[in-house]
Amino acid sequence: MNTHQRLQQTISDMVDDHRGVLAADESAPTIKKRFAAINLESTEENRRFYRSLLLETPGLGDYISGVILFEETLTQKNAAGMTIPDVAWSQKIVPGIKVDKGTEALAGAPGDLITKGLDGLADRLVVYADQGARFAKWREVYPITATNPTPLGVHANAERLAHYAIVCQELGVVPIVEPEVLMDGEHEIARCSEVTEQVLHAVFDALRCYGVTLEHMILKPNMVLPGKDCRTASPEEIAEATLRVFRRTIPAAVPSINFLSGGQSPEEATANLNAINQLGGPWQLSISYGRALQQPVLQAWQGKAENVEAAQAALLKRARLNSLARQGQYTTAMESE
Ligand code: 13P
Repeated sequence: MNTHQRLQQTISDMVDDHRGVLAADESAPTIKKRFAAINLESTEENRRFYRSLLLETPGLGDYISGVILFEETLTQKNAAGMTIPDVAWSQKIVPGIKVDKGTEALAGAPGDLITKGLDGLADRLVVYADQGARFAKWREVYPITATNPTPLGVHANAERLAHYAIVCQELGVVPIVEPEVLMDGEHEIARCSEVTEQVLHAVFDALRCYGVTLEHMILKPNMVLPGKDCRTASPEEIAEATLRVFRRTIPAAVPSINFLSGGQSPEEATANLNAINQLGGPWQLSISYGRALQQPVLQAWQGKAENVEAAQAALLKRARLNSLARQGQYTTAMESE
């Protein structure tokens, strides 16, 4: 297969009308925080056990078509000696890899951030692809304040996402492009709407500048939401605001939009996805949730071998409900069934 065919095959294997992506790519400090919440130490063995548990969930491939892994996980094995990427693919779940190296302050733009990791990216991608990764993920972060993101912040973060994306495509790796406008703050939904529109405009300008093939990427955006410390909004209001911004900024050539959950509860993230799909658009509107899929799993598991089945049942339930939400067929009553 040439590079173009590899990209096309990965898109075909990941994008359909009922499945989504599981983000299980927590960096070392983040997984430590998640495990601390259930009083579990973050050892290599506990991380290996947990991520095997996720991908060995029977039936998960019915609802999940891709998994984002952290570097360490690519070479870890399950109890039967199979690498975790192979475990994922045995359920027709395409393995991918988070390749960014987190954020730092953006010089010249007080309050804005920029993501590290471009140096040596092509060399690292060759190794990751060899270890089974067929797609990658890179996240840029935009805090909302009265003055952020600045015009420089919007521009510099977009450039970096586009640079990453073209490096991936040249090596036959599908890029997930993740511009995340954060939920923190007291701002109204209109402010998130305004910022998300600016950010997505800049991202698609930069992708065009760098010659990124839109058909061979996946966009991972935030939903348009009010700030966490503002009033709440209904799923219908969120869906309307989110799709208005998307119609103005995202070309129909992008095959799939896979939302991050960003701090929404699992139930909110599913209800909002459902409302978004009831309105619909020219793209697949799916998930790439981390916390909104995994929170109930960690709660059920508690780091105990005897809870593995309950933990896997919790994952399958969230994955199934999100699959229904993808088709606009979810109701909150299903939570207690
Ligand atoms: P959340 O769904 O928890 O926001 O995580 C998704 C993700 O991968 C962030 O980069």
